[in-house]
Amino acid sequence: MWKNNPVNYGHVSRLLHWLMAIIIIGLMIVGLYMTGLDREDPSRRELYHLHKAFGMTIILLGIIRIGWIFISHPPQLPVGLKAWETKLAKSAKHLLYLLIVFVPVSGYTMSTLLGYPVDIFGLFELPMLMEKNKEVGEIFRSIHWIIAYLMIGVVGLHAAGALKHRLFDGAEKDVLKRML
Ligand code: HEM
Repeated sequence: MWKNNPVNYGHVSRLLHWLMAIIIIGLMIVGLYMTGLDREDPSRRELYHLHKAFGMTIILLGIIRIGWIFISHPPQLPVGLKAWETKLAKSAKHLLYLLIVFVPVSGYTMSTLLGYPVDIFGLFELPMLMEKNKEVGEIFRSIHWIIAYLMIGVVGLHAAGALKHRLFDGAEKDVLKRML
């Protein structure tokens, strides 16, 4: 039930998957929205704080998720998939795991180098592990948005693949069913 089995995901993997999916999609929408706001807009500051705090929770959830893979192995992809489909699905998944770590890390690095502390839901502030350096901070700002946009593309591909198998490829290739 809680653990995965050879054909199905268990409760822990499903919970982590959907919780992270909702937070990541929310971060993308809020990230794109807040950067377009006027500097004087009263909601801008609050949205930046929320974006940063939820962004950091993704690292924590990502570490738990990666650790869980070793405790409870995920099911294999269905055997009926074409070789290119399996390759693409696996590549997208591995790239997503990397981005789950590197997008938030680049956000934290940018904020710290630009001199803005990262406050976690008003509970505590993360330590500033780097000295302020505006030039390098601007480089990390570019890195953050480039890999965040890459993540939007990979999440889209991942979701489109799952929907294609569900809608067009028959029940035995329905990988979405085992995550629902
Ligand atoms: C999975 C986690 C994250 C995702 C998917 C994400 C996504 C995004 C996106 C799509 C943008 C808009 C990019 C643009 O058009 O300029 C953005 C901006 C931003 N993100 Fe994140 N982000 C994440 C984590 C973080 C974290 C952990 C922090 C800091 C601790 C952070 C700090 C920022 C800041 C400060 C901006 C605005 C940059 C600017 O003003 O130009 N992000 N993020």
